[in-house]
Amino acid sequence: MNRLFKIFSIVLLSSVIFPLASHAEGDAANGEAIFNKKCKVCHTFAKGDKARIGPNLYGVHGGKAAQKEGYKYSKGIVAADLTWDDATLDAYLLKPRDVVKRGKMVFAGFKKQSDRDDVITFLKTLKD
Ligand code: HEC
Repeated sequence: MNRLFKIFSIVLLSSVIFPLASHAEGDAANGEAIFNKKCKVCHTFAKGDKARIGPNLYGVHGGKAAQKEGYKYSKGIVAADLTWDDATLDAYLLKPRDVVKRGKMVFAGFKKQSDRDDVITFLKTLKD
């Protein structure tokens, strides 16, 4: 009984602690490599670079969504009224359509948590 209780506590504790601890504590260098493969066709990320199909992503983490001047966002993303933090970016990069209804980012999403964490960690480095 005692042993079962211990195992139960460990399982319970790790499920509470690890998702929080591991969230977006990714590898920025790997995130940049993934970005170059999966996002760069549509997004630039250096400060002041022009938009492509999607907006430039410099400074996107930590601010409100749909703020890049001169970029024509979908009505969906404007209406969603989001702030980009670890949690909202994680959900968006898992399934863009679940977070922004009628948005115009055509991206299937990353199933792997570590892919999302690494890319988000990379996005966080894009600020002054
Ligand atoms: C096929 C083109 C395409 C690909 C690939 C793509 N995006 Fe996008 N992305 C867009 C478009 C278009 C928008 C604008 C969405 C809207 O207006 O609804 C957008 C919007 C965004 C936003 C919100 C920007 C803002 O100013 O609020 C983020 C963050 C983002 N993309 C990250 C990524 C990341 C990270 C990847 C790679 C994993 C990626 N995108 C891949 C086209 C793309």
